[in-house]
Amino acid sequence: MAHVVVVVGIYISAALLLLQLLASSSSYPGAVVDSVLGRKAAGTVDEEAAPEDDARRRRPGAGRYAVIFDAGSTGSRVHVFRFDKKMQLLEIGDDGGIEVFAKVKPGLSSYAGHPQDAANSLLPLLDKAKSVVPARLMKRTPVKLGATAGLRLIGDEQSEQILEEVRNLVHTKSKFQYKPEWINVIEGSQEGSYLWVALNYLLDRLGGDYSQTAGVVDMGGGSVQMAYGISANAAANAPVVPDGKDAYVTREYLKGKDYNIYTHSYLHYGAFASRAEILKAKSGPFSSCMLRGFNGEYTYNGEQYNATAAPEGAAYCKCREEIGKALNLTAPCETKSCTFNGVWNGGGGAGQDNLYVASSFYFVAAEVVGIVDSNAPSGKSTPAAFGASAERACQLSVVEATVAYPNVNGVDVPYLCMDLAYQYTLLVDGFGLEATKEITVVDKVKHGEYYVQASWPLGTAIEALSTRKWRQDSRVVGLSKLNASVSGRSDGVTGRRARPHDAHASPPQGPRGGSEGRTRRVLGARAQ
Ligand SMILES: *[C@@H]1O[C@H](CO)[C@@H](O)[C@H](O)[C@H]1NC(C)=O
Ligand SMILES: *[C@@H]1O[C@H](CO)[C@@H](O)[C@H](O)[C@H]1NC(C)=O
Ligand SMILES: *[C@@H]1O[C@H](CO)[C@@H](O)[C@H](O)[C@H]1NC(C)=O
Repeated sequence: MAHVVVVVGIYISAALLLLQLLASSSSYPGAVVDSVLGRKAAGTVDEEAAPEDDARRRRPGAGRYAVIFDAGSTGSRVHVFRFDKKMQLLEIGDDGGIEVFAKVKPGLSSYAGHPQDAANSLLPLLDKAKSVVPARLMKRTPVKLGATAGLRLIGDEQSEQILEEVRNLVHTKSKFQYKPEWINVIEGSQEGSYLWVALNYLLDRLGGDYSQTAGVVDMGGGSVQMAYGISANAAANAPVVPDGKDAYVTREYLKGKDYNIYTHSYLHYGAFASRAEILKAKSGPFSSCMLRGFNGEYTYNGEQYNATAAPEGAAYCKCREEIGKALNLTAPCETKSCTFNGVWNGGGGAGQDNLYVASSFYFVAAEVVGIVDSNAPSGKSTPAAFGASAERACQLSVVEATVAYPNVNGVDVPYLCMDLAYQYTLLVDGFGLEATKEITVVDKVKHGEYYVQASWPLGTAIEALSTRKWRQDSRVVGLSKLNASVSGRSDGVTGRRARPHDAHASPPQGPRGGSEGRTRRVLGARAQ
């Protein structure tokens, strides 16, 4: 089964596809599929649980809940998490997992012009969430919805109508703790910072100094995100971004500590979008990144790009030059230091030392070239290992590569040299990592008894429950902590971006995802 998925799947999202295939015998619109994420790690017990924790775990329903909707372009999902007072994840639902999850198809954007239907499509998910949260705790259970690329593609007006109906539905059909602004479009940089929260939570790195935290690079189909902790000083000196762009720094209060998270989402530089950028950057009639024997076009976001290979086939070094152009490595840098295309690099530092790369990076490393064990939830590697894999792949013809890389979907085989060289070039020339730097390629993180995927909904849940505590604390410690000097954090409370015009809804900030939009994080990942 898993092999079938890998073969038909694309570089990304094997796990979600598997989940979908296993769970969705009926994938017609409106079908509800339940499952519980969080596979138990074999043969381990939570040795740290104190007896009273144990009792609390067993008391049915006790705990703090969060209900997070992920409104993607292909479907909507709800995640319900349950935590104890120390913000440890607790089992939830009947299946012994640490997350209750359900999804419906299609996504909200499919209901453009029919906002009421869009909202109603979430009813089964809302009912699912209501069925697992004890009634007495509902008022204290935040409900949030993050709409990603799909909704943005249908335009501001229609997406706002849909969100308004969803707010209405959640408000009138449930007793969950609700604020209008909790139901909104989320930006790529927010996804990045929530993913950072989830990863560091799962790694048990929260509660200490930022220098102990791990950074993360997450490559989806349409965009790639980087997020890592920086010092308060670096945050205070972050370059101001032009109006309408995502701020570079998000502040979060987590496990009793303030964190400044540098985050940037590079639109057009995800796994599928980057191919279009690279093909645009070729100088002659042929792409030096395409495998020998390929003659055809690449379609992305409704546009076609001539992807014909040179007669002699791909050439690793020339391909890297074309990628360098696509990354705009020589673009002027108006801040102290940049990654590429004029984007501030965050200044580096200790929060980036321990770096995790996820989603497409994992899929390529584990399933495509085998530089980490595909049976392991994560593995250590280096950018250089991606580069060496690229050099090998670039020498092959399409026919040879089809044999050499049996896990790769046929339509992706001609792009193997390009994709691998891109991942290497992005890490080393784009993000400025040493080629020999040890990085962790990650799908899931072992957390207590479970293997858990770091995902933005989990990060959102953690933040939602942490924020409430901050509010209580802030009354005691006074307002000095709330100084909103960090760019992009002007509401002084939640660490979210400013909403200057409308307390209910920050207007979408322009398209971000690719053609079919960004769909779905899976291995903490996204697929188109
Ligand atoms: C793509 O470019 C190649 C090389 O110039 C050319 O032979 C081919 O006709 C082009 N294909 C299309 C569809 O334009
Ligand atoms: C590359 O940088 C130049 C100069 O800043 C800019 O005009 C151009 O739009 C950039 N290209 C891309 C693809 O972003
Ligand atoms: C808040 O930040 C501003 C700008 O960095 C600074 O001038 C001011 O002194 C700060 N206020 C407090 C109360 O910390």
